[in-house]
Amino acid sequence: MKLLVTGGAGFIGSAFVRLTLSTDAAAQVLNFDALTYAGNLENLAAVSGNPRYQFVKGNICDAAAADRAVADFKPDAIVHFAAESHVDRGILSPRPVVDTNFIGTFNLLEAARKHKTPRFQHVSTDEVYGSIEAPAEADESYPLKPSSAYSASKAGADLLALSYVTTYKLDVVVTRASNNYGPFQFPEKLIPLMISNALEDRPLPIYGNGQQVRDWLYVDDHCRAIRAVLEKGRAGEVYNIGGNRALPNLDVVHKILAATGKPESLLKTVEDRPGHDRRYAITSEKILKETGWAPQVEFEQGLTDSVAWYMRNSDWVSRVRSGEYQTYYEQNYGQRGAELNRIVN
Ligand code: NAD
Ligand code: DAU
Repeated sequence: MKLLVTGGAGFIGSAFVRLTLSTDAAAQVLNFDALTYAGNLENLAAVSGNPRYQFVKGNICDAAAADRAVADFKPDAIVHFAAESHVDRGILSPRPVVDTNFIGTFNLLEAARKHKTPRFQHVSTDEVYGSIEAPAEADESYPLKPSSAYSASKAGADLLALSYVTTYKLDVVVTRASNNYGPFQFPEKLIPLMISNALEDRPLPIYGNGQQVRDWLYVDDHCRAIRAVLEKGRAGEVYNIGGNRALPNLDVVHKILAATGKPESLLKTVEDRPGHDRRYAITSEKILKETGWAPQVEFEQGLTDSVAWYMRNSDWVSRVRSGEYQTYYEQNYGQRGAELNRIVN
């Protein structure tokens, strides 16, 4: 099977490429990625010499480039990960989020329609349901109520993709996953940021009261779910992918302090995220019933492995934290508390 993977140099996309090439001997992968701040070919060192893997640098906002990639490679399926994926960056600067997540997805859908790509798998998020009051859990028919430019652009892209099933009979499936964590995650998201800061004895910035709840999913479990849906998912359907491990942020950070052996004094409560969603909660019964997928990695094991990975890969962390990261960190955290040190002093 020929898979055109967008965003394959990012956190989840690179895990998907590594998993696919190591477990599916018949797979050929073209990774189409713009290499934004979040894209890193180092994440693909394990497969870069594989004759079944190729990389094309390209931007999905460039309709002609997206069209050319689909026309030349003639994929059996497009697995679409590329996105501006960080909520806080989208709050500071929403335009790239809308451009990539909505218009970029539109460009790819158009290319798939024109070249009759047999399947289009759109990788989306549980954030499209917005904040959900306990004890409710969203199934795939739950109303969409996104709170940020990021989640609104993903919700818009989900609906646009699904409209191509109705209007053009394109075979589209949408997956909506909960919060991922694991190796190679850019240290702007909660878990890798807290691990990296803790390992360097830097403050751990908790937004608001830290009682917001997220459902944690190990990245390889997410990738196995995407493969299950690729093989068994039905056109026009949406599949939730949850980790079945809902935890308040403060509990997660305490576990990170325990795993890194660092003191509570590193915790710093800072100004809350504007429009902060209090709780995400989904049910994944549909994907279990239709494909047999369920998460395999226990949170404590996944977190221990992740901490070990960040300890072993401090060079990777230093490289991705140099340059642009510094500017972002100051923009996002500088205003939140004077006591937050610069990452690179
Ligand atoms: P990431 O930020 O780590 O990687 C994004 C990748 O997309 C990067 O390689 C980047 O270079 C590439 N990219 C960005 N803009 C592009 C453009 N215009 N053209 C081509 N490539 C571009 O993201 P991630 O965390 O790996 O998320 C991947 C996908 O999974 C996203 O669609 C995201 O919405 C979704 N998702 C993420 C999570 C999570 O917890 N991280 C959970 C659910 C769903
Ligand atoms: O739910 C899936 C979504 O999970 C994905 O679609 C997004 O791409 C991904 O970024 C993630 O969004 P969140 O906003 O939930 O993740 P983030 O890691 O940014 O934050 C997780 C929680 O931790 C959230 O309640 C905000 C809080 N937080 C985050 C950071 C970065 C802090 O308290 N301090 C921080 O410094």
